Amino acid sequence: MKKRLKIILVGGARPNFMKVAPVYKELKKYSCFKPIIVHTGQHYDKEMSGLFFRDLQLPRPDIYLGVGSGNHGEQTAKIMIGFENVCMDLKPDLVIVVGDVNSTIACALVAVKLMIPVAHIEAGLRSFDRTMPEEINRLLTDQISDYLFTTCRDANENLRREGIPEHRIFFVGNVMIDTLKEHLIIARRLKMWQNLGLKKGHYCVLTLHRPSNVDNEKILQDIMDGITEVSKILPVVFPVHPRTSARFDHIHFLVYDREFDKGILFIKPLGYLEFLSLMADARFVLTDSGGIQEETTILGIPCLTLRENTERPITITQGTNTLVGIEKKAILKEVKNILHRTTDSDSLVKNRIPELWDGKAASRIAKTLARLLA
Ligand code: UD1
Repeated sequence: MKKRLKIILVGGARPNFMKVAPVYKELKKYSCFKPIIVHTGQHYDKEMSGLFFRDLQLPRPDIYLGVGSGNHGEQTAKIMIGFENVCMDLKPDLVIVVGDVNSTIACALVAVKLMIPVAHIEAGLRSFDRTMPEEINRLLTDQISDYLFTTCRDANENLRREGIPEHRIFFVGNVMIDTLKEHLIIARRLKMWQNLGLKKGHYCVLTLHRPSNVDNEKILQDIMDGITEVSKILPVVFPVHPRTSARFDHIHFLVYDREFDKGILFIKPLGYLEFLSLMADARFVLTDSGGIQEETTILGIPCLTLRENTERPITITQGTNTLVGIEKKAILKEVKNILHRTTDSDSLVKNRIPELWDGKAASRIAKTLARLLA
């Protein structure tokens, strides 16, 4: 029998798992591939990791490195040490990394130095802001990867500008949207708004975790002052990321408070399906996340991004995203704009789906790999 090619898929942090899942499932369809899931343990809480494996029907990771949190150098180094042992032991034929977290660059770097080919999924995104740790991870991972799978044509342009040869770049679409499309119907059935005592379409969702927004107390306080104003107009549901909750002195978990009318509802981070349900029926979303800008674009839900820049400009030119920054006045102005928009203009926005965000990106990746590695 022909030897099966061992392909390691690396997942480490929450936004990785929904990208790994569809690729793993597609690779499984090929008898020539043996996909192996390595979880670095960068994220380890049930809410940040375990719930995602359950919701996405991923098997338990084949290997769990358990590196945990730490400063960038420490965390990246621990992942590298653990992953080097895995690679020397398993001798994979390919390592696939996704996104832009510390696990992405750490595992890519280990693999290339062991002469193992690396594929990077979601390559070429650029915020052009090197104060973001993710931007450094993106730039470096793309420089050393052999196969670069992109979600949009402007990512191809960014890679060309950085001197990446054309034959390494593959525009395949967005695997995160594959996962969204696969799970949307089940997620909608959860009706999270009902569980939280809210009215469908009459609340907004907030997520905040960028170090530049939450690590400085004064900045976080200013943002929360703005959000408090928003909450006087519409209830705000706020699943709080652990980085952010560590900054709050008092968090009131009002999850099942049926009396809740207006205000901010602080809740624990949600699993994939619960969060998708919450987003899908929201009036709008406020966020500093990257992936949520893409998901809201497909859901047709207005997204106000609490940042000065984005590595995903296609969500602005073709989607529902608006960069509002963190100033209270700017946030409130855009919230009022959204609430005054007519349904007709909303539906115009909803129809502009970026090219190849069609739910088939992972199948294109598997097909391309089968051809390249044959
Ligand atoms: C990481 C990624 C970021 C991504 C985000 C999604 C990097 C550089 N950053 O940021 O790109 O958008 O994940 O969530 O890789 N913690 C827990 N439990 C966990 C994980 C973390 O309590 O399961 C706490 C720890 O106190 C930790 C802090 O959250 O120090 C930050 O975690 P870390 O993985 O360093 O970065 P994120 O902010 O989560």
